[in-house]
Amino acid sequence: MVYRGLCGPLSHIPGPLVSRFTRLRLKVAVLQGERVRYIHRLHEQYGPIVRVSTEEISLADIKAAKIVYKVGGLYLKSDFYDAFTGRQPVGNAFSMVDFHEHSRHRRLTSANFTEKWISNMEPFIADITRSATARMADEASRHGFTDVFKWFTFMATDVIGESSFGTSFRMVERGQKDQYIRDLENVTGSGVIRSEFSLFFRIMKQIPVGPAKEIANIIKRLQSYGRESIERYYTSLNADPEHVKPTLLTKEFALVDAGEMSLEQIQRDAVGNIIAGTDTTALTATNAVWLLSQHPDIEQKLIRQVSELPSDFKNDDLQKVSLLQSIVNETLRLRGTISQGLPRTVPPGGAEFCGYFVPGGSVCGIQSHTMHRDPSIWPHPEVFDPSRWDEPTKDQLHAFLPFGGGSRVCLGMHFAQLELRHALANFYRAFPYGVRASQAEGFTEADMTPMAFFIDGPRGKRCLMESRKAMTS
Ligand code: HEM
Repeated sequence: MVYRGLCGPLSHIPGPLVSRFTRLRLKVAVLQGERVRYIHRLHEQYGPIVRVSTEEISLADIKAAKIVYKVGGLYLKSDFYDAFTGRQPVGNAFSMVDFHEHSRHRRLTSANFTEKWISNMEPFIADITRSATARMADEASRHGFTDVFKWFTFMATDVIGESSFGTSFRMVERGQKDQYIRDLENVTGSGVIRSEFSLFFRIMKQIPVGPAKEIANIIKRLQSYGRESIERYYTSLNADPEHVKPTLLTKEFALVDAGEMSLEQIQRDAVGNIIAGTDTTALTATNAVWLLSQHPDIEQKLIRQVSELPSDFKNDDLQKVSLLQSIVNETLRLRGTISQGLPRTVPPGGAEFCGYFVPGGSVCGIQSHTMHRDPSIWPHPEVFDPSRWDEPTKDQLHAFLPFGGGSRVCLGMHFAQLELRHALANFYRAFPYGVRASQAEGFTEADMTPMAFFIDGPRGKRCLMESRKAMTS
């Protein structure tokens, strides 16, 4: 251990002394949900390349980002993903590591995610976002406040249910968390724990009860739900192919019939969409409302613009409200929902980054949290300023990584943005006076402190808001 610390392959790279010898300090940060902020502080101290553990480095550099997250690049997803997703014999778009397997899969499935195809799903996205925001306004008027995080989670769950299985979970209608929502809430956090403590997890899994078994059960429950729903959709597709609802998987079913894809693959993809697309979208909508609640001048400007939309507004109308897109971008910049580095393995032969040689087999990542706060790229980076998106510079566009990058860039990014535009437009039409943080039930700013277990969420798991109307009436 001492020899590795002094002469190990990453020992020449700047970083804290402890990271020469062990991963322990990083593990502690991960367990506390503080990985992102811990590594950000290291960058502030050591510069754009920093050793974060014996086998891993973090980079904060545009040139490095272009290499590591390149289309067709050789920096494959690291072992982290195997443990994180609880690798199955059949993977999904997110978990596949093998370059050829992933490229083939992406080629076959990306037609489901084009802006043209997802426009087929706009009618139910409009309905669900409108119902969810109406429920929030109703709750706020009856109780004095509403938990926007809860309702945006129900909204995103119903949207992803319709768009992956052709049936909504009807969470907005029911208005209450069930086992399914709780499983979704826990799945990414448990993946991070499983990945950091994989040996311990494998031992614990042999014990028939306890946390490891429960983590395995979460995956099993989500998968069996996916299996049943996909089989149902496949049956109705075969019974009436002309009238079945278009989904993010519809085009994959034709591949099953052509023998190019298994039904099991579609089930995995459906569950993958749900895990990748629910919290990320719900949290972005929540964060936008939270940030706007602290910037009433920008909030008022948005309210004015969305109030002028036709009552049956469509995406074409929303795209003309450029402030809406700027707010979504600025929210993703300041409070991205996957802001940690996306770990990749340096290919054999190694690479040079920021003047340092990094040997093949090392793990590297570029965290968007740090890229989005580089003061040489973003003037006053901590300030929420959607107007910086009026004319972004080239460097800003290259440093903006909320959806990852290259061959593994988020498949659902257009879908998420369509949903977010509808969600925010409907929200500010339902709250025409805007909203501010509520003090009900002891809610404070501390509840909204970010905590990251791969996905960044609010520490208090709630975001209580009240209408500003109470203030003016
Ligand atoms: C604001 C919302 C969202 C954010 C911030 C987000 C972010 C990301 C990021 C950073 C990645 C790359 C992960 C990595 O390299 O490890 C990713 C991948 C992915 N996302 Fe999203 N996502 C969002 C919404 C969605 C939605 C709505 C869906 C599906 C409907 C989706 C499906 C996927 C899939 C399938 C992948 C894996 C792509 C591949 O490796 O080929 N995401 N997302």
